[in-house]
Amino acid sequence: MPKSYKIAILGATGAVGTELLSLLETRAFPLSELKLLASERSAGKTLPFRGQRIPVEAVGEHSFDNVDLVLASAGGSTSKCWAPKAVEAGAVVVDNSSAYRMDPQVPLVVPEVNPEAADRHQGIIANPNCTTILMNVAVWPLHQEQTVQRIVVSTYQSASGAGARAMEEMKEQAKAILAGQTPKTEAFPYPLAFNLFPHNSPLDDRGYCQEEMKMVNETRKIFGDSDIKITATCVRVPVLRAHSEAINLEFAAPFSVSRAKEILSEAAGVKLVEDWQANYFPMPMEATGRDEVFVGRIRQDISNPNAIELWLSGDQIRKGAALNAVQIAELLVDRNLVRPTAVAVST
Ligand code: A2P
Repeated sequence: MPKSYKIAILGATGAVGTELLSLLETRAFPLSELKLLASERSAGKTLPFRGQRIPVEAVGEHSFDNVDLVLASAGGSTSKCWAPKAVEAGAVVVDNSSAYRMDPQVPLVVPEVNPEAADRHQGIIANPNCTTILMNVAVWPLHQEQTVQRIVVSTYQSASGAGARAMEEMKEQAKAILAGQTPKTEAFPYPLAFNLFPHNSPLDDRGYCQEEMKMVNETRKIFGDSDIKITATCVRVPVLRAHSEAINLEFAAPFSVSRAKEILSEAAGVKLVEDWQANYFPMPMEATGRDEVFVGRIRQDISNPNAIELWLSGDQIRKGAALNAVQIAELLVDRNLVRPTAVAVST
């Protein structure tokens, strides 16, 4: 008899939480019950799911009783507080925050790259940083053909990376600026509309911000390759949703551009988007709402015979967060790594 699972979404009212809800709806996940959890602020709200309205509950001590799987996207401190309690209650947690990503006991998974890492989970599986996921989906298939020795990446990150409130703030800023008024800033330190700034996460003593070091450290963990050299510059740009990245990949020997295109045209989770005649390449507006990472503008690096350049755009809320988490949940189900408390399912 097919199994079905009781799922809780922690952070259900947020930008990623809302997307998790719609993905569970459209991907026919074997779900017997859905629980929506957020902060006290949202208690009493309802959200639509499969033709019904489901109440949002404030997360509390008994929220995870009889829950099989938790999809958490409510920030690092909320995960630190509630993920261990959910595991204690018998659930498996797919955590979208950065709280557990570098914990050696916790698998960090991009299903197209290292699905087998999930096999050794001890209750928590971490969903990587959004820019890391997008880069990994594009670079991994090339790394399989010939080892990447060094990655130089620059990101162009949309407002959605900072949550639903930041997206609203950028829209309000655009309206204010066009009306000749001073834009208000709360979610971001500076106006993002008609502007850009280096990523606003804390800086270390070498001058790298946290977002940049996430790309470095998480990629090494996911690829299982501590030798790969990576340097990143992360920038917030006035795009509402979907991140872009310019990536330079260096190998030990030349990597044929036509072979790179062939590999990426067949790679899981990638859509090759290139029309050189029309100067048409991946754009965040077109990647928005799409599952695939759009990759293109693949060319020889004229300054280094062993390097190639590529450009990508990917939906940060979907593949960069919610979709990757749901794919992890699906692989846990496929590999029988979640213990269901419910068995019967209506199909
Ligand atoms: P709430 O809407 O009740 O504040 P985003 O990333 O779009 O800002 O969303 C963050 C999500 O995390 C929201 O669902 C938010 O709920 C939830 N959240 C934030 N802080 C907490 C908390 N302390 N406990 C539970 N949920 C939280």
